[in-house]
Amino acid sequence: MKVLNKITILPGDGIGPEVIAQAIKVLDCIRNKYNHSWTYKFADIGAIAIDNYDDPFPKETEKACLESDAILLGAIGDPKYDNDPSAKVRPEQGLLKMRKTLGLFSNVRPVRVNPKLSHLSPVKEDRLKGVDFVIFRELTGGIYFGEKKREKDSASDLCLYTKKEIKRVAKLAYEMAQQRNSKLTLVDKANVLESSRLWREVVNKMSEKYPDVQTEYLFVDNAAMQIIINPAQFDVVLCSNLFGDIISDEASVLVGSLGLLPSASRGKEHALYEPVHGSYPQAAGKDIANPFATILSVEMMLRDFGLTKEADNISKAFDFCIQNNIGTLDMGPDFKLSCNLVGDAMSILIDEGISKIRKDKFIQSFSTII
Ligand code: IPM
Ligand code: MN
Repeated sequence: MKVLNKITILPGDGIGPEVIAQAIKVLDCIRNKYNHSWTYKFADIGAIAIDNYDDPFPKETEKACLESDAILLGAIGDPKYDNDPSAKVRPEQGLLKMRKTLGLFSNVRPVRVNPKLSHLSPVKEDRLKGVDFVIFRELTGGIYFGEKKREKDSASDLCLYTKKEIKRVAKLAYEMAQQRNSKLTLVDKANVLESSRLWREVVNKMSEKYPDVQTEYLFVDNAAMQIIINPAQFDVVLCSNLFGDIISDEASVLVGSLGLLPSASRGKEHALYEPVHGSYPQAAGKDIANPFATILSVEMMLRDFGLTKEADNISKAFDFCIQNNIGTLDMGPDFKLSCNLVGDAMSILIDEGISKIRKDKFIQSFSTII
């Protein structure tokens, strides 16, 4: 297993730098506690990189990413580009270029509902019992990267997939299903799209190699409905790039707050960890953003490097926080802390260990109302 030595940090735009600062507190804490010696290198991506380099994914950033063992990203996006369809450079191009350049073909977004927070979801609580699934989204192919054409009165985006591209992400999804509840659902539109029929053909063939995994197929329109009416049926959900993008935002509402969802994007050589949420410009600089999605992305990073004990520190401290109302406003009226204080609370919990914390005193010291 690769050793975690060099971490490239890309704070990005909006609330990115604030949530990243909390994740670094946690990383520092774990590094000290377990005598690790990883180092950080900071680089620009997105709107901030356009401001500083006229390029949303500058060469300096690319180099830092290529030379690192893992990348931690905050968020990308700035409203000044959103309503200008004619803008030539856009922050999001940085993200897409990075995914392609680093070969990050498999994007994993776990969706787990915590019963303490299920009342936050607009979906009825009885539907949310036992919801725990993982979305595998193909990230470097399909309509995102196919040939784009623009003529005066028409435009097109090509959705192209090769068998190889489908196989490599499907293999990871099957392996994950084997470690979980042995069910894989392919989400596609095979009743209409040729590219979806190829997905089905490849996955169907592959399913023979994984007889222990139950393979199911859902058309994406039906899947969009099933995610709301019966989300507990899912274990591993496999999608092409665009369907995965849409389905994963939809699934995030089950959890109650977008601020709680981490993700990992992995390739053969590189891996990137980032919260699922965006740059939330309205909250930037206000110290109200939820840093848990980024901190939980760090947990995914540590697990990938076999640092299980270290990662367990994060999941235990996170559970403690949820149980004891330590969190930001988006987690409901009982959670009243700032982004910074959540980072501090997590650091103390990890540093001292939950069993050694004097619970009442600790909770008292984090009862500040923002
Ligand atoms: C995501 C985002 C990106 C995507 C955007 C910012 C380009 O929505 O990571 O889900 O569409 O992939
Ligand atoms: Mn998205």
